[in-house]
Amino acid sequence: MNFIKIFAPATVANVSCGFDSMGFAVENVGDEMTFTKTSEKGVKITEITGANGLTLDPTKNAAGVVALAMLEQHPVDFGIEMTMHKGFSPGSGLGSSAASAGGAAYGVNQLLGAPFSDLELTKFAMLGEEAACGTPIADNVASAVFGGFVLIRSYEPLDIIKLPVPDELRLVAIHPQIEVKTKDAREVLPTEVSLKNAVTQWANVGGLVSGLHSNDYQLISNSLTDVIVEPARKHLIPHFDLVKSEAIKAGALGAGISGSGPTIFAICQGDDIAKKVHKAIENAYSDKKIDFNVFTSKINTDGVKTITSN
Ligand code: HSE
Repeated sequence: MNFIKIFAPATVANVSCGFDSMGFAVENVGDEMTFTKTSEKGVKITEITGANGLTLDPTKNAAGVVALAMLEQHPVDFGIEMTMHKGFSPGSGLGSSAASAGGAAYGVNQLLGAPFSDLELTKFAMLGEEAACGTPIADNVASAVFGGFVLIRSYEPLDIIKLPVPDELRLVAIHPQIEVKTKDAREVLPTEVSLKNAVTQWANVGGLVSGLHSNDYQLISNSLTDVIVEPARKHLIPHFDLVKSEAIKAGALGAGISGSGPTIFAICQGDDIAKKVHKAIENAYSDKKIDFNVFTSKINTDGVKTITSN
């Protein structure tokens, strides 16, 4: 294989109760990236479209850092040239750097003859996350690489559990056009958690995992509660409480902050409810003098995928 074009999905991390430990991939929002073998060794990023302000320097770009690390661990007698078309903005809370990092891990792996497992690709992609936001968080990158819902059961050693996705689950998300940097959103987090809140949170993670396994939408709904991170971060997102309550009033199973925000996600059962929630969220923001974008999507169960190769 000399060339590959791939799709790298946007991802929703945390999913309310699972801060840094749960996430899922989005079906119809993501980046396209190309990877071409070159006779000159090394990594070159030749073009980034669809977003401003991202560096072409492979030692600083999330995708470049991943590609360089992979070539260092698996030396070859060719180089790799990359292009990226961003389908959504950095700083949206939809895992922009994770899509670049996870996409690079997948694309480079294919050109190398696929020596690395998905778990190893996630570890490489975490280096890209670290370059982009200062912390090697796994929830977005694992969701992008594995697809579907994932649970990061352990960071050391890294252990990723792929969870089933009930057929009727739909995502409705609103991206207010403001930027929240993950680094800043991590600075407002509490450094200590009460035992009472910890019990609530881990019980809900258990409930969510069980609900996904048993297609129990009511249990999923009951478990989409975050008593630790959402209260500390929601002031960063204008009209968060209104959007959340309107989404739930319109029938959503639950709603919360997507990753570190500002995107707000709602999870729904079925297309009809998703349509109502989409409308309700749109209405809630329509007179707020902040540009926004609302979309509805299925859950992507494949993760990063090949569009074409030769
Ligand atoms: N789990 C991370 C956070 C996701 O909420 O900070 C953002 O990358």
